[in-house]
Amino acid sequence: MQQDRQLFEIIGKERERQLKGIELIASENFVSEQVMQSMGSVLTNKYAEGYPGRRYYGGCEVVDLSEQLAIDRLKKLFGAEWVNVQPHSGAQANAAVFLACLKAGDAFMGLNLSHGGHLSHGSPVNFSGLMFRPIAYNVREDDQLVDYDQLESVARAERPRLIIAGASAYSREWDYARIRKVADEIGAIFMVDMAHPAGLIAAGLLENPLKHAHIVTSTTHKTLRGPRGGVILMGRDFENPWGITTPKGEVKMMSALLDSAVFPGMQGGPLKHVIAAKAVSFYEALQPEYNIYQAQVKKNAAVMAQAFIDKGYKVVSGGTDNHCILVDLRTKFADLTGKVAEKVLVEADITTNKNMVPFDSRSPFQTSGLRFGTPAITTRGAKEPLMSEIVEMIDSVLSNVEDSKIITSVREKVNATMKQYPLFAW
Ligand SMILES: Cc1ncc(COP(=O)(O)O)c(C=O)c1O
Repeated sequence: MQQDRQLFEIIGKERERQLKGIELIASENFVSEQVMQSMGSVLTNKYAEGYPGRRYYGGCEVVDLSEQLAIDRLKKLFGAEWVNVQPHSGAQANAAVFLACLKAGDAFMGLNLSHGGHLSHGSPVNFSGLMFRPIAYNVREDDQLVDYDQLESVARAERPRLIIAGASAYSREWDYARIRKVADEIGAIFMVDMAHPAGLIAAGLLENPLKHAHIVTSTTHKTLRGPRGGVILMGRDFENPWGITTPKGEVKMMSALLDSAVFPGMQGGPLKHVIAAKAVSFYEALQPEYNIYQAQVKKNAAVMAQAFIDKGYKVVSGGTDNHCILVDLRTKFADLTGKVAEKVLVEADITTNKNMVPFDSRSPFQTSGLRFGTPAITTRGAKEPLMSEIVEMIDSVLSNVEDSKIITSVREKVNATMKQYPLFAW
């Protein structure tokens, strides 16, 4: 067969873009060579609907082994009693939990999307908001921390069937114990979506939500540094609270409902190549050097947050406990939107994303904020001194958004700097 030159040229361009730029998107990372190799392996050829040992296709003996490896390693990594490694993405993992726990129209609570919550926690254009009844809790206006008092009073008044903690743009540790308490009081299921901080949690640098939540979901590709995908975990399996029974009349365990919600409820055949790559990334996360990496991610984020503050930027909530920094541009540049800031930074080969800040005066298409994260740049070996230099470069661009000479000179500096941080081994 002829080689598809056109497509491979495009891949080459993307490789080049990743190599020469500073990657600061909080939800991105660079996977290892062996994670990539597993994704590009023969496992992509195999259909394996079902679960290890109980498949709907023949010839699954080998892929059963790789899925079981992923299951065992993930359990060990987070101290889970039960996991499902098949969700194709974080949103799919969340959808499976909704399917297992809610009926159409049921109420659930999640963090206000414009205060850092995720689309799949109740956006009106997402399945969660289209099929169910989302109720938001907020962050406080004064310190931008989750307003647990409001969460509790709304939960008591509305009695949702599910409460979700976790966010796409929240830099602080969560009080999971407090949310579990109110969930127990009103008979709700408590789910934590740890997609963003999962790697820091795996390294023991943030509290493990499996100790408090009934169900935990995650992506595998952000701080965790695996392939793109999702997972569902439980610290302890439990009988479903609605009395749904098996044909034998026994109350179904939640694990059975979740397994059925993923397949056949939400998905068909699992991505065996991606599940294998998940297994590799969990292996990597169980090695001692992973904890050193995650500690550096956290240190780098703290230094970056402080460097922004020192330059006169407002960092939402005044800092960060994790890998993520949300900057409110309004205090320093009243007229600069997140949209324009993102675009000019890309011209300087610095990649970040526009983001709403809590109580934003602008729309989600313009925004007043930028979200930064340190997982990817830390994978390249960057340490604290580079964080201050990066903030210096960002400030230079944002202070001169119309000066193409300055933007070009920053880009040259970015490209020269990143040459010192090799990325791909081939
Ligand atoms: C908290 C949270 N949950 C879920 C997701 C969805 O993950 P995916 O893009 O893999 O569907 C994201 C993605 O950004 C997220 O931030």
